[in-house]
Amino acid sequence: MGAVLRPMEFADLDAVMVIEEASFPAPWRRETFAQELSSSRRAWLVAEWDGRVIGYGGIQVVEDEAHVMNLAVRADARSAGIGAALLAALVDAARDLGAKRVTLEVREGNEAAVRLYRGAGFTEEGRRRGYYSESGEDALIMWSGDLSHDSQQAAIDSLRARGEAALGAYSGPQSVARVASGGEEVVLGIETSCDETAAAVLRGGLEVVSSVVASQVDFHARFGGVVPEIASRKHTEAIVGVVSQALADAGVGFDDLDAIAVTYGPGLVGALVVGVAYAKGLSLATGVSLVGVNHLEGHLFANVLADPGIEPPLVALVVSGGHTSLVYVPEWGEYEVLGETLDDAAGEAFDKVAKVLGLGYPGGPAISRLAEEGDPGAVDFPRAMMRSGDYRFSLSGLKTAVVNYIRHEREAGREIDVPDVAASFQQAVIDVQIDKSVRAALEHGVSTFCIAGGVAANTALREGLRAALGSEGISLSVPPLALCTDNAAMIAAAGTFRLRRGDLLALDAEAVPNLALG
Ligand code: KG4
Ligand code: ZN
Repeated sequence: MGAVLRPMEFADLDAVMVIEEASFPAPWRRETFAQELSSSRRAWLVAEWDGRVIGYGGIQVVEDEAHVMNLAVRADARSAGIGAALLAALVDAARDLGAKRVTLEVREGNEAAVRLYRGAGFTEEGRRRGYYSESGEDALIMWSGDLSHDSQQAAIDSLRARGEAALGAYSGPQSVARVASGGEEVVLGIETSCDETAAAVLRGGLEVVSSVVASQVDFHARFGGVVPEIASRKHTEAIVGVVSQALADAGVGFDDLDAIAVTYGPGLVGALVVGVAYAKGLSLATGVSLVGVNHLEGHLFANVLADPGIEPPLVALVVSGGHTSLVYVPEWGEYEVLGETLDDAAGEAFDKVAKVLGLGYPGGPAISRLAEEGDPGAVDFPRAMMRSGDYRFSLSGLKTAVVNYIRHEREAGREIDVPDVAASFQQAVIDVQIDKSVRAALEHGVSTFCIAGGVAANTALREGLRAALGSEGISLSVPPLALCTDNAAMIAAAGTFRLRRGDLLALDAEAVPNLALG
């Protein structure tokens, strides 16, 4: 499916403003576009792909001269010939409106644009010194030749042919990695889906300028797990301070933000609504665009922050307190869940077994630490679903097996070797995960594999997966340890990706506690 050009409508202005603000240091205001759309002797066009605006441009004709007022292409669609298509169509429209020549101003340092205009027969006929107040750069004033002259017509004909071919061939946004250096968007991320209140500021989709995580773990620890009512109340208490701290650490104000990205699911509904309501209020008060992020997509994007070069297609293992899923990612933004847990999530199993062993909450870090001193072969716990031939998991039986083992040993009057039990339990969990991960990667023919979520912090899982995938020639990408468990930098990273695609969250959107990936 290629891209198409069509007239710009008022309904396009949300998407247009996102591109405008990401493209220019002194962006036009929405009202200016609205005014243009209601004026005569104008032509405004958008380029659209898959129902999304990926670029736009407009001209104004005064007597027999046309002025290109604006032309921009979304960061992830640049260098694909969309600009050429828009320019050729605008020049055609100018001719239809009676123009003989076309003029425009372009920032001298914008080499790609200057090249485009020169190729279309435009030449430099003057400059405005220091026109761009932010950078002090000059604007070049360029003019086309007479539109009725053969040489100018030939230049536009070849531009049009190139643009039409580019529209037909356009197959969607480039990967995040390739556009990472393209934009300098400043995005505030907000995360409140479970028991961490987190905020972070990210620049250009990759640079973590600040990241603040206020953990409520201590308030939940004495109950051995997350208590939803306590989570909501603690988020409400913490959110203003956490967001202010993230902005202050980054040295940015609301005016500097290109978007506010907030987790809107999945998670505890009473926890999610705190972040969502706060982000909506902030967006309404400041006029900054609002982007909704799927928490699990956020976990996946923690990998991109560590390794901007990773490219789909890939397979990912998402293992957290709430999820255990194998996911096929043909390209960023498209997710096919291959299989999930039928009962407990991996992190949940770690937490429950830790509770039985008296290790406190959260259990994952405690078990993995103790397991280093234990023998993973000491107790032969069950590997449920190991031979199921699919990508589903089951972990509740394993927890019961650990409980039964401990009871049995105590009844027999034997001392429990806690490190051995921890190591054997951990090994039973990761054996199944590694086996299914390798099979999923091989079946989908990918050369890249990612792990994501709190349990991705587990060293034995990381090492085991790296070895098993490595022997099949598949490389493993892991998030940095600090970004495995819940944080807002990963939410801002996924949010920047969504912003570049023009996926905004409406102000009447709600938190979705069981939001699915894909
Ligand atoms: O992603 P996360 O911070 O929150 C959810 O979205 O659920 O994951 C938290 C889970 C907890 O269950 C915790 O015990 C587990 O991740 N976890 C670990 C480790 N560190 C955290 N599990 C195993 N080994 C670890 N090192
Ligand atoms: Zn999480």
